[in-house]
Amino acid sequence: MTEMEACSRALELKTVPSRVDSGGTSLPLDPGADPELRDLLRTEQLAKVYGMGDVAVRALRGVDILVRRGEFVAVMGPSGSGKSTLMNILGCLDRPTSGAYVLDGEDVSLLSKDHLACVRNKKIGFVFQAYNLLPRLPALGNVMLPLLYDGDRKMSDAMARERAVVALESVGLADRMAHLPNELSGGQQQRVAIARALVNDPSIILADEPTGNLDTRTSAEIMAALQKLHEEGATIVMVTHALEIAEYADRVIYLIDGRVVSDQVHASGIVELHNGSGGAV
Ligand SMILES: Nc1ncnc2c1ncn2[C@@H]1O[C@H](COP(=O)(O)OP(=O)(O)OP(=O)(O)O)[C@@H](O)[C@H]1O
Ligand SMILES: [Mg+2]
Repeated sequence: MTEMEACSRALELKTVPSRVDSGGTSLPLDPGADPELRDLLRTEQLAKVYGMGDVAVRALRGVDILVRRGEFVAVMGPSGSGKSTLMNILGCLDRPTSGAYVLDGEDVSLLSKDHLACVRNKKIGFVFQAYNLLPRLPALGNVMLPLLYDGDRKMSDAMARERAVVALESVGLADRMAHLPNELSGGQQQRVAIARALVNDPSIILADEPTGNLDTRTSAEIMAALQKLHEEGATIVMVTHALEIAEYADRVIYLIDGRVVSDQVHASGIVELHNGSGGAV
């Protein structure tokens, strides 16, 4: 089977329509009515063990979470609690040792690595702590990349360019498209990474400490960009250590030692639960 066939087969998964179809028309969804339309991702007893025997690390120990379409969820927890491990599995970069991961109505924990890569390319937009931009490509080229690498989409360069321009405009970088990454500030580089994450119109945007390398003012700039996407209907799951960043989310999931210890609508409650004193977690 060619890579393209494998990709098409993988995507014959029982997918539900996205917010907007490929022609750009809004679909008449009523997400409240049908759990399959409403729920974008769900994990059941998700576990991840790294290594074996004496050196085995149980990074996730039975994680059950549910993310609905259009939600903005923050994941918090101490260093080593399994946040990045969880994000890697949600992002189809890695597979769980056991448990189920249902994305868009299909259990992707059972897919082969190739099929997982297809699902990742089509459905996931990533934003990392380090921006991971290609240094020799200007902002526009970096944002076009996911479209040009997307095997079966058959998008022309002109169309890819047009979509990349729209994505860069949506994060406020219309006037920086020709700049190389080292000609941009940290916040601008991260906004390029956000544009790259959303250019494919993914089902979900996953961000692992997107403001981790940025100062307070620049972090606010990134959070404004993510919040705008959220208001436009994007589903976002974001790891952060900072309570003031988590406050942007609708809900905060708190992990300790590979388990969900709380899942709350208001970030401020997290401080009382896990710190008691009201200081930063
Ligand atoms: N590839 C790996 N091999 C072995 N152990 C790993 C691997 N990746 C992570 N771990 C271990 O799994 C546990 C969870 O790691 P993870 O990176 O998910 O934590 P985290 O919550 O993201 O931490 P941080 O806040 O420091 O980024 C840690 O104990 C870590 O040492
Ligand atoms: Mg981490």
